[in-house]
Parts: sequence; structure tokens; C-alpha cells
Amino acid sequence: MIEQIKLDLKKMLEQAFLNEFHTSVNVVIEAPKRIDQGDLSIPVFTIAKAISRPLPETANHIKKTIESSMISTLFSELIIMGGFFNLRLNSTAMAQKVIVNYMSNQNNYGDSTIGEGKVVCIDYSSPNIAKPFSIGHLRSTIIGHALGNLLEKCGYKVVRINHLGDFGTQFGKIIYAYQHFGDEEKIKKDPINELVKLYVEFHELAKTNPSMDDEARRIFKELEQGNEEYTALWNWFRKVSLEDYMQVYQLLKVTFDSYNGEAFYNDKMQPVIDELKAKNLLKEDDGAMIVDLGENMPPALIQKTDGSTLYITRDLAALFYRKNTYHFDKCLYVVGNEQKLHFEQIKAVLKKMGYDYDEAIEHINFGLVLQDGKKMSTRKGKVVKLVDVLNEAIKLSQAYIDEKSPLLEGKDLIAEKIGVSAIIFNDLKNYRANDFEFNLEDMVRFEGQTGPYLQYTSVRITSILNSEDFVFDGKIDYSILSRETEFEIVKAISQYQMTVEKAALESSPSILAKYLLNLASLFNSYYGKEKINVENQLEKNTKKHLLAMVRTILNDGMTLLGMQIIEKM
Ligand code: ARG
Repeated sequence: MIEQIKLDLKKMLEQAFLNEFHTSVNVVIEAPKRIDQGDLSIPVFTIAKAISRPLPETANHIKKTIESSMISTLFSELIIMGGFFNLRLNSTAMAQKVIVNYMSNQNNYGDSTIGEGKVVCIDYSSPNIAKPFSIGHLRSTIIGHALGNLLEKCGYKVVRINHLGDFGTQFGKIIYAYQHFGDEEKIKKDPINELVKLYVEFHELAKTNPSMDDEARRIFKELEQGNEEYTALWNWFRKVSLEDYMQVYQLLKVTFDSYNGEAFYNDKMQPVIDELKAKNLLKEDDGAMIVDLGENMPPALIQKTDGSTLYITRDLAALFYRKNTYHFDKCLYVVGNEQKLHFEQIKAVLKKMGYDYDEAIEHINFGLVLQDGKKMSTRKGKVVKLVDVLNEAIKLSQAYIDEKSPLLEGKDLIAEKIGVSAIIFNDLKNYRANDFEFNLEDMVRFEGQTGPYLQYTSVRITSILNSEDFVFDGKIDYSILSRETEFEIVKAISQYQMTVEKAALESSPSILAKYLLNLASLFNSYYGKEKINVENQLEKNTKKHLLAMVRTILNDGMTLLGMQIIEKM
């Protein structure tokens, strides 16, 4: 809301200067040098210069304009201080505005309309069939899911796409391996591990028997052309892999609108290749087909010597398909830092083809997950299974609950909500492009900057509100809300919508995560100092209104991040 006030004030003043002096000036509104000098500060000097008037006259003009405006009631003091025009906010009026605003949108507080009528495709998670769901795919899933929620909150129509890595030459190898030394029963029991074993075994044997590689290539080629036997096997590998990934999606409560993976584009690449040819962009290079992208970028390899296509060929086909099917305004790819070049190449090819929406494509990159400073992917030589990591977090939460509240009803479900949300929050509180350390014990703690801390804070408020029947009836003593202790919280509440918008527009869930931590700690220190259940009914009711708003935001914000809410703890 302060941002809104600043914006309104800026617009109004700029318009007034334009009307009066026929000059467009840029009114800057900043924080005063010292808190006791007010809440907002406008440097007058540059404005005076722009309209060629003396400083005092300019300052007086600002004063007159504000005093005669609709928003004058939002300020309690207008102070001219040398080269600055300072304003103090009228906290009572502001608190009133916040409450009224909250009461009229209780069920969708913070909803924004900035995305109305716009479509965003988000490509996230996208694990590779027949391979384990990696910690990198977990990051993509968590970040992509949160971004989808944030964008929806802002009014965008969101299309969630799981671009499964279900095609490529490796399937020729796996099919070969399965037909020569695979075991159906073993795959049924432990699909991913067995498929990985087949793949590894293939590579071992192919070292001394290079004709296997030729065979695998032939198989993949035939798979591309629709060979029934191979397609059936491929379908089966895909199905059992997906079933395995579903365990993770179910725990995270993540869903997708489309599971169209790379294979889906098998019959959609030829038109792209034809178009590249027709536009004279395809060049032969040692038998392969490439698009030259200039000196600053390696060329994009579109087709190999044997005619088979590549990851980028399928991504180009997918891009056109999405544009034509969903008519997106933005297409986001939540993929690790290491694929930076790939997405730059896609944009460059698109531009060369003469399309103008390369700016609508964004690589939402993210960093590595580290354990003891090293990339977390294997543990004691074994690939870390993600479901195991999630289950470990759940177990830790369970142990904690058993210790603190052994009689809690529905303990198991609560432990699951805490453990999983802990992992989600730990990821999202960090700026996504940075690497971060993965320490389960730390992230399931109830104090510090953790998910459980937020969940616990919300539960705490619930139990305070439930101690007596509380109704959000707007019966409020505004002089209480405008006291410094309460007003800090009111201000934070008023910034929720803007925070959500910023997190969505900058594709940074961490902005919201940090805001929630701050809100929770404002509440906790307030609760440590202030008694809520006081004798005076109006005072008690006022304070409870404040807490109810904090809880609404905490719960809504956590839900946006993909975390789960807990009623009791
Ligand atoms: N399957 C890929 C990987 O695991 C990620 C796919 C990302 N999405 C895309 N459209 N390229 O590396």
C-alpha cells in the first residue's frame, strides 16, 4: 500500500506540474534520511530546476497540491526541510484503508489483476524417463510449481507442462540392452534402478563391442519411424518411470496440465526443418545440419548425419506447438544454470527465423544443491533417490512431534506436511540462481528461517484466535492499530499484494518467502511483548483482527509457495 501511495502521489504531482508549468518533471519519492523526519521524502531541488522556479516556491506548490488532493487524508504532516519535502503518513487513515481493503477481499486477499487476459506456459520438472528423478528436477518442480501459483494469483492463465525427457538415442540403447539381457520381473519390481542398470551395462559391453552402438542407433531410428515392437517397449519404460515420479508429485501435491514430452514432437519436427530450409538457415556441416548463430554462439545442431534429431530440434517443435496451441504471452523454462546456452540458442534460432517473440521466452535458471559444499547427486556412490530424501524429512518431523506432542491427532499426516513443506521452503527462500546447502536437520527445525517456523506461527495464531469465538467484524479501535508496534504489522500486511506481484514478475519466489519470514517474526516479537486477551473488548477485538490478517497472509503465502497448512501442532 505504501508503494501504491507513492505511485498515486507521484502521478498526481507530475500531472499538477504539467498542468501548471507545462513541463514534465520526474517526481522521485524516497525514504527520508532519518526516521524522525517522516515516512516519505521528495527531493525538491531537481524539480525546481526543471520548472525554473526557486526552491521555496516549488516546495509550497507541492504542499498546496497535496493539501487540495483526495489523498491528503493519508498524511498527517507535510514538512519542508531545506531541499526536501517530507511527509508523515497518517497511520490511522492507513490502517483503516488496510482493514477496509481486507474486509472486501477476505477470501482472496492479495489477488492481483496484472496478468488478466495473458497466458503463461511453464515448462518444469521434466525428468528423463528411465533415469532417476534428480535433486535438480526437484528444484525445477518446486520452483515451477510456485511460479505457476504466483502467476495465477496475479490473474494469468497458466499452462503447466512437464516436458518429459522421453526420447533420444539412449532409448535405442536401453531397448537393445533389455532385449539382450533384461528381465521383465526385475523391472516391474524396481523400474528405475533396473533401467539404469541396463543402460550402464550397455555402456560397459559396448566398450569392447562397438557394433552395439550401431545396433542401438538403428533401433532408435526405427523407433522414430514407429516400429511397433520398439514403441511398445518404449511405452512401457515410460509408464513405469512416470509411476515412479508420481510418488514425488503426490507428496509435493504437484500436478500438470500436460505431460507432452520430447517424444510427442516426433512428428512435429519435419515442418520446422522444412521451414529452416525454406528460410535458407540450414547449413550442411560434415553431413549434419546446423543453424549458424554467428561468432558469439556455437551453431545449433538440428539434425545428425544419420538424419536423427536432437534435444534442441524437439524444443523448437515444442515451442511452435505451444505458441500455436496456447497462444502464450510468455513461455518459461525452469531448468538449471547448465542449460543456459541451449535456451540462448533457441531464442537465437527463433529470431533468425523472423519471429518476434523471442523476448517472451525466459530461461528460469537455478543453481545446484550442495551437500558439504559438493554437488548433491550421489551418496556413498549410490544415486540419491528423491522419495527417500522426502521420506527422511518426514521421519525427522515425526520424531520431533513424537517428542513434543505425542498425543497429537493425525500425527502422520502432519509430519508429512511439515517434512515436505520444509524441503520446499528451504529451496524457495534462496534466490533461485544461487547454489545452496542441503541440510535436512536444519530445515525441519521449528525456529530460524524454516518452513516449519511459518507453519508453527500460523498454528499459534489459530490457537490464540480460537481461545474465544472471534469474528472478523471490523469493530476496531484505530488508535491501537496506528501505534508503532501495531502499525509495523499493518504496513507489512499492506505490502502483501505488491510482494506477490513482484515475485511473479521477477520469477522469484524467494521474494515472497522472505516477506513471509519477516511477517512471521514481526508477529512473534509482537506476541512476545503484547498481551492479546486483555479485558477491554474493543482492544482485544482490534488485536485479534490484526492477527487474523497475519494468519490469512501466512497461509495464503505458504500455499502459493506450494507448502501445506497445518491446523494443529
Ligand atoms: N529433461 C531435461 C533435463 O532433465 C529438461 C527439459 C527442460 N525443458 C525443455 N523444454 N528443454 O535436463
